[in-house]
Order: sequence, then C-alpha cells, then structure tokens
Amino acid sequence: MSHSSNEVLPAAWYPLCRAGDLETSRVLPVQIQGRRYAVWRSASGKVSALDATCCHVGADLSRGAVRGETLQCPLHHWCYGGDGLCVHIPGDRAIPARARQDALHCVEAYGLVFGFVGKTPDFDIPRFVDEVDPVWSRATVVDVAAPYTTLVANSFDGQHFAAVHDRELLEPPQITRANVHHIAIHYRANVIGQRINDRMMRALGIDRVGVTIHCWGGSVLQVYNERTANTILVALRPLDEQRSRVYILTALKTKARGVARLFQPLHLAVARWLAVAFLRPDMGVLEGVTMRPRVLLPGTDDCLLTWLRYWRSLPRAEQGDELRERTSPGAARSSFAPVAEPLSGERTA
Ligand code: FES
Ligand SMILES: [Fe+2]
Repeated sequence: MSHSSNEVLPAAWYPLCRAGDLETSRVLPVQIQGRRYAVWRSASGKVSALDATCCHVGADLSRGAVRGETLQCPLHHWCYGGDGLCVHIPGDRAIPARARQDALHCVEAYGLVFGFVGKTPDFDIPRFVDEVDPVWSRATVVDVAAPYTTLVANSFDGQHFAAVHDRELLEPPQITRANVHHIAIHYRANVIGQRINDRMMRALGIDRVGVTIHCWGGSVLQVYNERTANTILVALRPLDEQRSRVYILTALKTKARGVARLFQPLHLAVARWLAVAFLRPDMGVLEGVTMRPRVLLPGTDDCLLTWLRYWRSLPRAEQGDELRERTSPGAARSSFAPVAEPLSGERTA
C-alpha cells in the first residue's frame, strides 16, 4: 500500500501551541506541514491563526503586533481581524476585497490551542467519556524526527507493544470504528518490562492493563486505561514532511473537592510522567520511519492494515495543494528532548 510522504493533510484539528504560552496580545509562529501561520491572542483573549504570509507583499505576520482585536503586519501596518479580513490600511485607503488571509478555526481545550485545517470543522475536539468539569496537566511537548502519521500509526501496530514496550498481549487487539473520523484499538496485556515506569506501574498495583486508544482525524489520540482513573491526550502536528511536534497531557474527568483537590496535580504529574516514559522508546525507534509497508503479516499486522485504510479514507483539507507547494522538507533532526519551555517560536525548529 503506497503511503505518500507528500500527501494532503486530513481535514482535522491540529494542536498549535499550549494556551499558556500564548499570552494576551502575543503572536507565535506556528508551522503546519511546512506552511507558516501567525497564531495570536487578541486584547480580549480571543485566539486566531492566520496564514503568516501577508497578502500585500509577503511580510511575515508572525513578526507583527497585536493591536486590540487585530493583527498588524510589521511591514506596512495593514491590520487583519481574526477571520483574516483586512480591516485597516494606513492612510485610510480603500481596502481591496482580496486583502485577506486564510484563517484557521481555533478552539482552546485541555490547555491547548487547536486549529482546524480544512474548510469547516465537521467534528469537535473529542471529549473524554463522562467528563464533567475536567482537570488536566500541562502538556509535555516533544519534537520527533518522523512524520506524524508514523507516530499515530504506531498506536495501531499490535506487534510493537511486545517488541518496544515489553507488554505481553493477552489476546489479539481489537479495532472499532465510530465514524469516518474515528478509529480505536483495544488491547489487554501484562506489564512485564523492567524499565522504571513498568516497575512503578507494578508498584502501584497495575501489573495488567486494558487500554483503549481512540484516534480522531488522525491527529488527536485519547487513551483510556481500565486500571487508572486518569486519561491521556496525545495531539500531533506535522512541522514538515520529516518532523512532528507531539503534545502529551493527562486529564481527570472531574475536579476533586476539598482536600482531595490538593493531590490532583500530583496525580496528573505522575500519570503524565508514566505516559511520556511509556512513549519514549517509540520516539527512539520511529525517527526516520516512513510507514510505507511492503510486507505485512496476515493476523499480526491486521490492526495496522486497518489503520492504514482508515488513514487513506480520512477527508482531506481542501487547501492541501497550497500546503504541498509550500512544503520544504528540511533535514530530519534527532530530538527526543522535551522542547525548551516556553516555546519561543518555530523559525529555527
Ligand atoms: S507586506 Fe504586510 S502590509 Fe505590506
Ligand atoms: Fe508505541
């Protein structure tokens, strides 16, 4: 099955940044598959994401300044609203109808800013089952020198749970689909590894896990473990054809009351540490993997094959051609180090 590395992105929600890194009146440069965006928070707190190449003569809007509810281009001071429309040209010149920037639909959820790449969002950011007044950890941010499809497909690669994570599968993993945007895998396994996170899980009484991983739009993963109260959110964004930025956080479905509330941050931090430690071996072996299978094993690779079919059937973003034109592959870079915080920008990433 061919799996082009230069393909059009699925129409989906992609994490743009942590909400806490985007203070009021701040602009951040964000790259999605080689295309640059200016992500900014207006004076009233509204988050927007505009194509960073100004339609006038091409200045970089991510170097611009927030003026109230608009983003001002650094070169000639044209101002754009969050919808991308130019609303002001100095000298009170008439504004051409074509003076507008492509804009992503943006929402904030779980401490992240998400942008929908595609014309109109046709599904929401997934919420955890039964969540009411949820609470979540700050996201750990990691750059990996692999296409994001490789990283997501990894969650549906049944054979690697034993090879990479030292999980002893108790039965073949099961796949379910809810709609065109969704696919899920469920597996049960013994925790037999000797890594510190495995030993810590067993010390916490978790020697067997029942895990369900839901994938939405190919870019957002929700992870449930039957033996733990917390859930995990993994959201991924392609920086370019070779590199991905991964956001990993943990959540609890309800904010605790009274004294128990004091322990929730610790619970979430420990759970996030365990999640990142579990994923760390993946990052090491997935760098440079293109996920273009040539030989698949019947039975063993059925889940992966089903995921690849799901991936190919996902609705695609209509501005894909433009995304491809602007893509510059760049050099793959080895980097399982957490990204320096706060994220200062992506120009040199
Ligand atoms: S290049 Fe942006 S206003 Fe001229
Ligand atoms: Fe993995």
